[in-house]
Amino acid sequence: MRVLIVGSGGREHTLAWALSRSPAVTRVDTAPGNAGTALVGENVPLAVNQVDDLLAFVQREGVGLTVIGPERPLIHDAIVSRFRAAAQRVYGPTAAAARLEGSKSFTDEFLARHGLSRKWFDVFDSPSPARDYVRQKGVPLVIKADGDAFGKGVKVCVTLAEAEDWIDRCLVQKEFGAAGERIVVEECLVGPECSVQVFTDGETILPMAPAQDYKRIGDNDTGPNTGGMGCYSPVPALDPETLDYILQQVIRTTVTKMAEEGSPVTGTLYAGAILTDHGPELLEYNCRFGDPETQVVIPRLESDLLEVLQACAEGRLSEVTPRWTDRRAVCVVVAAGGYPGDYEKGHPIVGLEEAEAAGALVFHAGTKSADGQVVTAGGRILGVTALGDSFAESRRTVYRALDHLHFEGAYWRTDIALRAEQAESR
Ligand code: GLY
Repeated sequence: MRVLIVGSGGREHTLAWALSRSPAVTRVDTAPGNAGTALVGENVPLAVNQVDDLLAFVQREGVGLTVIGPERPLIHDAIVSRFRAAAQRVYGPTAAAARLEGSKSFTDEFLARHGLSRKWFDVFDSPSPARDYVRQKGVPLVIKADGDAFGKGVKVCVTLAEAEDWIDRCLVQKEFGAAGERIVVEECLVGPECSVQVFTDGETILPMAPAQDYKRIGDNDTGPNTGGMGCYSPVPALDPETLDYILQQVIRTTVTKMAEEGSPVTGTLYAGAILTDHGPELLEYNCRFGDPETQVVIPRLESDLLEVLQACAEGRLSEVTPRWTDRRAVCVVVAAGGYPGDYEKGHPIVGLEEAEAAGALVFHAGTKSADGQVVTAGGRILGVTALGDSFAESRRTVYRALDHLHFEGAYWRTDIALRAEQAESR
């Protein structure tokens, strides 16, 4: 079978890599892809929102399954319904189901309606009642732009001045456009975070291995937030009872109730959970594979990824039982100097083969080929993953591999999975 992956990041290279290893896959295309996806298949010069062109491509080329990586074509372009209307097999949720990621107020109201969250929150379209509410609640609190604001619409406010400024930026200055015309003000929850993802066909859920990512740019969780600087799986801080609660109470109920309400969730449902002193709470839902979670979770999948994704797309996930390795996976993201602020592009990358020879999997994110060289083309450039029998072994392998990788300004955190290594050695 031929497969098309839509997207161009580390998540998409990981999916392309895993699918290229399936005995049933004859060719993997990625649109638009990066220099890494071109190593395991072909790149197609189409953007993720060119839905009609993507559809024409799969029809012309006889692609059997299309896998949607990023959230934007799911939320904004209804790519899944449009593929299904053309009788094309596709992995991902409809736009109606993707509201779980695309609208924070939809999700908070859904969770509250079904008793799946204890946190307080309220939704506002105009600044004056929002200001009254934050004064009444006091800080700290979290204010979220309701819609998809490229991951920049969430603010943890520790002073009232910050809260009032954020309300102003969203509702008065309209800094986030339509995505910020409505805001959610909610309780600020504290505790370790983890990512619990499931495959679902709208009825059955199959858990993936849990993961924990690192959002801040600097060691010891300092500096500004990023798209993710590294990740590990499994998560020692997540005990089996808590994981079971998140899967069976929160995620399973969500899938059941979304189907009952006419918007079945299909594809990946990603729960960003926080382990508070009062028990686990949901921070957010995403309606697609996490990035960089995919770079540690999918390498731990021993079964054929195609079988799972195909079963999901065909509504027969109950027939599949994926196997996961117990080995520990660690991924360190290599970023461009300056990221998440301004950064340069076009710097040649050397040492990619040497890093793999040192035992790592090198997943490309912001890379492209130019004049026979792989060069930087984004903020997050590579995700370097290693598997080991312990976190100590995985960390050793991944950081040794990183010693081989060079480009001007290359930056990575040095403490990824250190806390998991310490927890494991106690
Ligand atoms: N790692 C967080 C995300 O994928 O949204």
